[in-house]
Amino acid sequence: MRDAKYDILFEPVAIGPHVAKNRFYQVPHCNGGGYRDPSAAAAMRGVKSEGGWGVIFTEQTEMHHTSEITPFIELRLWEDKDIPGLRRMSDAMKVHGALAGIQLAYSGINGPNFYTKEVPLAPSALPIRTFTNDPVQARALDKAEIKDLRRWFVNAAKRSKIAGFDLICLYGAHGFGIFQHFLSRATNQRTDEYGGSLENRSRFAREVVADIRDAVGDTTAITMRVSLDETIGELGFSNAEVREFVEMNADLPDLWDLAHGAWEDCSGPSRFKEEGAQELLVKGIRELSTRPVVGVGRFTSPDVMARMIRQGVLDFIGCARPSIADPFLPKKIEEGRIEDIRECIGCNMCITGDMTMSISRCTQNPTFMEEWRKGWHPERMNAKGDSQTVLVVGAGPAGLEATRALSVRGYDVTLAEATTTLGGRVARERLLPGLSAWGRVVDYRQYQISQRTNVETYFDSRLTAEDVLAFGFEHVAIATGSHWRRDGVARQHVVPMPIDPAMTVFTPDDIMAKAHGETIAGKTVVVYDDDHYYMGGVMAEVMAKAGAKVILVTPSAYVSDWTRNTLEQGAIHVRLDDLGVDIRLNRGVTAIRAGEVETNCSYTGRRNVIGCDAVVMVASRLSEDALYNDLLARKSDWADAGIKSVKIIGDAAAPAPIAWATYAGHRYARELDTPDIGDALPFRREVTQLEPA
Ligand SMILES: Cc1cc2nc3c(=O)[nH]c(=O)nc-3n(C[C@H](O)[C@H](O)[C@H](O)COP(=O)(O)O)c2cc1C
Ligand code: SF4
Repeated sequence: MRDAKYDILFEPVAIGPHVAKNRFYQVPHCNGGGYRDPSAAAAMRGVKSEGGWGVIFTEQTEMHHTSEITPFIELRLWEDKDIPGLRRMSDAMKVHGALAGIQLAYSGINGPNFYTKEVPLAPSALPIRTFTNDPVQARALDKAEIKDLRRWFVNAAKRSKIAGFDLICLYGAHGFGIFQHFLSRATNQRTDEYGGSLENRSRFAREVVADIRDAVGDTTAITMRVSLDETIGELGFSNAEVREFVEMNADLPDLWDLAHGAWEDCSGPSRFKEEGAQELLVKGIRELSTRPVVGVGRFTSPDVMARMIRQGVLDFIGCARPSIADPFLPKKIEEGRIEDIRECIGCNMCITGDMTMSISRCTQNPTFMEEWRKGWHPERMNAKGDSQTVLVVGAGPAGLEATRALSVRGYDVTLAEATTTLGGRVARERLLPGLSAWGRVVDYRQYQISQRTNVETYFDSRLTAEDVLAFGFEHVAIATGSHWRRDGVARQHVVPMPIDPAMTVFTPDDIMAKAHGETIAGKTVVVYDDDHYYMGGVMAEVMAKAGAKVILVTPSAYVSDWTRNTLEQGAIHVRLDDLGVDIRLNRGVTAIRAGEVETNCSYTGRRNVIGCDAVVMVASRLSEDALYNDLLARKSDWADAGIKSVKIIGDAAAPAPIAWATYAGHRYARELDTPDIGDALPFRREVTQLEPA
């Protein structure tokens, strides 16, 4: 039974002609699958419906072919042919009583149209504003084209209705949707009745809402998504102007959906943003309109959610990432199972699926986007197979997830951990600056395992092959993790680089174990980052905070290059710059000598030397696979020991981000005792239907 203090979250709220059954509102979020994987995306939304969300939205949907955002894979509603795929999604959303919403996006100044080859159209003629500085400019819409665009919105709204959606969200946030392009003085420099005053800049939004209302307003609610502040300085659509806009157009949409800034601002990672970070920007907007308001803020705490409603800040709790990490979040609150909530850790790995045009992963929820492809459910496991006992060696993210999921399947699991703590790399990394929320990967699993009678955990248990053979478990999962290399092997160097032992070289493991001691203050430390994800930047931060003079050297053109995919690269650069880190981009390290490192330009190879006292080597990692190899060497003894299988998983198999480890642990648990599928593809996929030649 739920706690009465959360009752307020379960009140029904009207949105236009519809009533949401509760205040849990899954705001639009993409998933890397989009139009390429329609059934996978639909099944993912269906699971959220089962998990109790009152409102569930699609990701942004390109509503006309004259504006698209290739290479990113979202949804498309260009013609009637697109309706059945979307219908599958709305049907899935509605199975358990959620309202189904579609977000219509016309990308204007944000759409380079690489696929359709159409000339981009926007309020003003300016270069296309994308992550990749595409060499394309938009043409300013003339009056006839504005009329066309209004009609295209109506066409899309009619198709949305046929596709079964209850709500239409007009996208005007994150710099991505044309409504913002009209509203902002930065992107709207028109001198006609659509430009200039706020009233004029609002005209397009007013016209489109009126047109859609005429066409489908009796059955379909209209929501408008704007950013709380464009965060681009004086010319931008500021928080003050947003308030003026809402007041001026108080009853325009059926609901105000308040996102924030650019996507990087709105989906800020936990390293840089706390839960509910937008509260001050959103406070008071609700009073300016009679319409309900939804806002976001990586809400995972039911207490914070209830407070947002009680204090009149919001009417709906908007969630993207928390709904990905735990699609059953509302249901768990409703059933009084707060401790079962799998809280989002704010790592933004889910966003990388979109940024890399692959398919999304979630560090906390390995079943995300595998609901249809693999038939994985976030709360239910497949039935147990024939065997009974499993030994999991290593309690890092892979071992913990394997243990949790195997125990839910009904196996008797023994978890052997070499140290005295659970969590492996996460136990260490959660202590690094900004990464404490990542500890939830451990906390969630530790609690779940503690509730099960079929798991036994042993600490201080560094096992040998002899030990494992002596135990005689039917199955053995080796999840022994990895460690950072000291020899520089990564991308620049595929064999060890020349390193004089007279120079102190730390690895991130040393720093996390505090092996650098107190002696670092005042010293000059070169952090060499050839890993390119977060660790190099974090190490520079740790060293700078310890009082060292830090020089960050990386062969890439960006600090922590890969974090562009997690939308935090800019914030990392700013943080390091604020800490006084000397950032040297496009430079590798060719040799480490006593008192200096030799660097080279990534392009010309020209070398120079930096004098320093120590180096932090952020290169690549080595799998801890000795136990696995020892067991393989004794394969002939397995049968006598009662061992049916030994498998290596997670970083021990191949080091990768934490999300790969939880996925590997989950996959191991799912696939144990299942039939060998041989050379067959291990997931379902959809192939584009061929038209006649
Ligand atoms: C993977 C992912 C994809 C997103 N895609 C969209 C999108 O298609 N349209 C949109 O308006 N916002 C999108 N967003 C932003 C979210 O709707 C939301 O405003 C933001 O993530 C903050 O909410 P949260 O803290 O609950 O994640 C996306 C966010 C994520 C994490
Ligand atoms: S990938 Fe990370 S940020 Fe995204 S939902 Fe999962 S835990 Fe949260």
